Amino acid sequence: MCGIVGYLGKKNTKEILLEGLKELEYRGYDSAGIAVLSDGEFSSFKAVGKLVNLEEKTKEFTTDKFAAGIGHTRWATHGKPTELNAHPHVGASSYVVHNGIIENYAELKKELQNTGVTFLSQTDTEVIVHQFEKNQQDAANSFEAFKKTIGELEGAYAILLVTKAEPDTIFFAKNGSPMLMGINAENEKYFASSDTPLIGQCSDVNYFEDGDYGYVNADEIVIFDKSGNKKEPHFTKLATNKLSAQKDGYRFFMEKEIYEQSTVIADTLLGRLSEDSVILDEIDSSLFEGINEIKLCACGTSYHSALTASYMFERHAKVKTSVEVASEFRYREPIMTKDTLFVVISQSGETADTLETLKMAKAAGLKTLVICNVDNSSMVRIADASILTRAGIEKGVASTKAFATQVVVFWMLSLYLAKRNNTLRAEEIAAQIAVLREVPKSVIVEDAMHERIKRLSKRYLHGHGFFFIGRDLFYPLALEGALKLKEISYLHAEGYPSGEMKHGPIALADPELFTIALLPEHLLYEKSRSNAEELSARDSTICAISPIEFDKADDFIKTKKHSHYMLEFFEMMLVVQLLSLEISVRLGNDVDMPRNLAKSVTVE
Ligand code: AGP
Repeated sequence: MCGIVGYLGKKNTKEILLEGLKELEYRGYDSAGIAVLSDGEFSSFKAVGKLVNLEEKTKEFTTDKFAAGIGHTRWATHGKPTELNAHPHVGASSYVVHNGIIENYAELKKELQNTGVTFLSQTDTEVIVHQFEKNQQDAANSFEAFKKTIGELEGAYAILLVTKAEPDTIFFAKNGSPMLMGINAENEKYFASSDTPLIGQCSDVNYFEDGDYGYVNADEIVIFDKSGNKKEPHFTKLATNKLSAQKDGYRFFMEKEIYEQSTVIADTLLGRLSEDSVILDEIDSSLFEGINEIKLCACGTSYHSALTASYMFERHAKVKTSVEVASEFRYREPIMTKDTLFVVISQSGETADTLETLKMAKAAGLKTLVICNVDNSSMVRIADASILTRAGIEKGVASTKAFATQVVVFWMLSLYLAKRNNTLRAEEIAAQIAVLREVPKSVIVEDAMHERIKRLSKRYLHGHGFFFIGRDLFYPLALEGALKLKEISYLHAEGYPSGEMKHGPIALADPELFTIALLPEHLLYEKSRSNAEELSARDSTICAISPIEFDKADDFIKTKKHSHYMLEFFEMMLVVQLLSLEISVRLGNDVDMPRNLAKSVTVE
């Protein structure tokens, strides 16, 4: 989703902005642009497509003096991905970049057009710069005009604005979309949508709160809160070790991230397991006092991991658990009772819909917990408690290692609760902990397995659809397998509970319908196999994934013999991820940045 960067200082502003935007590339975008104000003059460049196009356009441009610069990668919401719609948007003497959505843009635009303002783009963002310049005409100074403008906007935003009237200043505002500011000993000021562009450039960062607005120049950092009270910035140290963003010899980040799963799962387990209990130092057990129900809320892949949690929480800890898609939960006027622990799950911690459900739960007085991969993200800062997944930066838009670590955290949490609630015997908990320790080994990608999947993938490049089927915990895995395939192959795929196929979808069965059947040995094997046989009998092409030979399969991916179904779960997760990857590679798609998708979905 859109990314913002800003810089105020004396270095090569163009380079800093472009480097910052590169760090945000993984969020997904379809155009990009920068505007730099130096010596009282603006230079602005925009390009559709990848950042190399913008680099090409700016190759003759350098800045070696004090400058105020803003940059943006755009993921289209209002208006097509064209150069005119790319940010920064220009007024008579100002430029603006914006993430989020201005909900009342249509009415503001109409009023501005009635006063003779001409709009160049179809975006909601452009109203900000024109409204600001309109307000500049009556305001005492540019900051007053900016403040008034922010007060007139409805919706979600992270905004940076630069104007010739105050040539050494960047104005900013944040509400609902992430933004932070960084500083360093050289008196430079940086802005970005996440901390990655700032690592290595800044020593300290201030994460803006919703409703914050203000300005920075060489001498000042001025911040106001949503009630208009001046506030001090709250700087915290920024990590100095930029986690490796390189592909390390892999063809794609997604591939690297699939291979990394063994290591990151080991990291997620580190220090959290003893012989007979799960140690989650980051949460106080009082979080669960008075709790009779757990509600999980998330989007996409994180929603699928939440579904796995619902099986484990009920099975192990005997707590009533429900799972909701965040975008649905928001508007259906849900009943929220205070004996419910509200849990949000998010790789990024910034997904707009999930973040809003967290705010709703907080407002309703519920206790809240976030399972997240990004420390200091909006959700981590808002929730009462958080458990970090330690997957490291995930760059591939199609989530892999984040999902794996989320499931591991949920499994640990279910055992933690089982002990607390006395719902599993001590030996059972110890036995499961021993299995948990085996998970990193179960997700090591073996060459033979990867080669087999590579070879098989050529048979699955067409057809009229895929059904991924599984039972129990393998149903959310089937959903996740189908989502992975859809995202990067653009082939139609659905995840289905194996037992549901005969209630309708089996009507689609024919040789061009591909069924990917998850057949674990240790969880409802016979039942799952019967369901796959029903499809085979109706001529669907079956690709079975199982440790047990299945003679009705057209293709068979043999997984290892494991002692526990969760180890089968993780190995099968690997298989469906690799299968999607190899199909996508054969189709010539952009694996890491699939069309129409964004890594961090910060609009609803
Ligand atoms: C995963 O492959 C997707 N790109 C997407 O479904 C993602 O999981 C979803 O947008 C939620 O993101 P989050 O975990 O950062 O909240």
